[in-house]
Amino acid sequence: MIKEELANILNNVYGSSEESIRYFQAPGRVNLIGEHIDYNGGYVFPAAIDKVSTVAVRKRKDDIIKLYATDLGYVVEADMNSLEQYKDLKWGNYQLGVIDQILKKGIKVKGAEFIFDDKVPLGSGLSSSAAIEVVTAYAMLQLYGHKTDKMDIALLCQKAEHEYVGVKCGIMDQFASAMGLKDHAMLLDCNSLEYEYIPIKLDDYSIVISNTNKKRSLGSSMYNKRRAECEQALADMQKKFPDKLNLCDFTYKEFLSCADDITDADCRKRAEHAVCENLRVLDSVKALKKGDIYSFCKYLNLSHISLRDLYEVSCKELDVLVESAWMQKDVLGSRMTGAGFGGCTVSIVKKQSVKDFIEDIGRVYQEVIGYNASFYICEISDGVKEI
Ligand code: GLA
Repeated sequence: MIKEELANILNNVYGSSEESIRYFQAPGRVNLIGEHIDYNGGYVFPAAIDKVSTVAVRKRKDDIIKLYATDLGYVVEADMNSLEQYKDLKWGNYQLGVIDQILKKGIKVKGAEFIFDDKVPLGSGLSSSAAIEVVTAYAMLQLYGHKTDKMDIALLCQKAEHEYVGVKCGIMDQFASAMGLKDHAMLLDCNSLEYEYIPIKLDDYSIVISNTNKKRSLGSSMYNKRRAECEQALADMQKKFPDKLNLCDFTYKEFLSCADDITDADCRKRAEHAVCENLRVLDSVKALKKGDIYSFCKYLNLSHISLRDLYEVSCKELDVLVESAWMQKDVLGSRMTGAGFGGCTVSIVKKQSVKDFIEDIGRVYQEVIGYNASFYICEISDGVKEI
């Protein structure tokens, strides 16, 4: 939606004001590889995408936050002095969680009126929530003249999700939405927060995202349970390796040497995934840097198998998309992306075959699952910015 349209909506919904309107945008992300290891101190490899959350916003003189989305028909109004009471809102809690964190940090801000135009498909595993959080934080800080270090914004938004929304997410999504760079993916060490931008040059290949259109919610999903299982496995492994603080600090050999100490069989599988996925990220990025897209994609496929069989966060809908993609001759790799239990897959597809891919996979999916998948050809774009 263009700025003029957003300005019209803002003036219609909230009435006119002498305050000027500013516009900000933050993207969703696709994770290429490194799944469910950001909270295990591992490496992840996400990229910001061209599906974005855009806001038009202006200041208020009081302590009231007003939120409205172009695809919802009502205004959420919140008093900044008692933000605790809005935690259970169906829509608006991500934004208010972020504002709660800004206030808790002692940063001086007053009220604001927001219009959201969210084009990251909701609940699709493409980080629609991180896009909303990051754009809210960036807009509030810019509006009130504060410095906007993008890494600090990512950390603030992650904290908001932990404390306000109640999902113990890792740092990957907020980091990707804040720090994205056009045509680059980011190799992020989630332990040290050091990162490197790696150009994504896939020559004749495109990144295609396939959406199961199966609705899921992170909060009610098994996300927090997986995190707890990893903590349990680590505690058992630390008996032999007391100095290791994260699952991803283990080599595979070290994991094998203490795997029997992990008493619960499920926890053992989760740990094996985390250790091996971390190694796969490093190996796959090494291949990509050499221009070896084939090997890079092999690791993507292995990642899916591990998420399906060891981490158990895939589902029938994701498996149908991935496994039918593997059978296409011009697909080099395909895997689920994001938290799982629904959401999207990412596939590397030969440009000239993208149309056939969408038709073939779309048909199989409809036949087996009974409703349609959606497909996007994905451009890698920049992180949060004023527009
Ligand atoms: C969600 C979380 C991330 C990450 C992924 C799985 O998107 O927000 O922190 O854990 O799941 O890789």
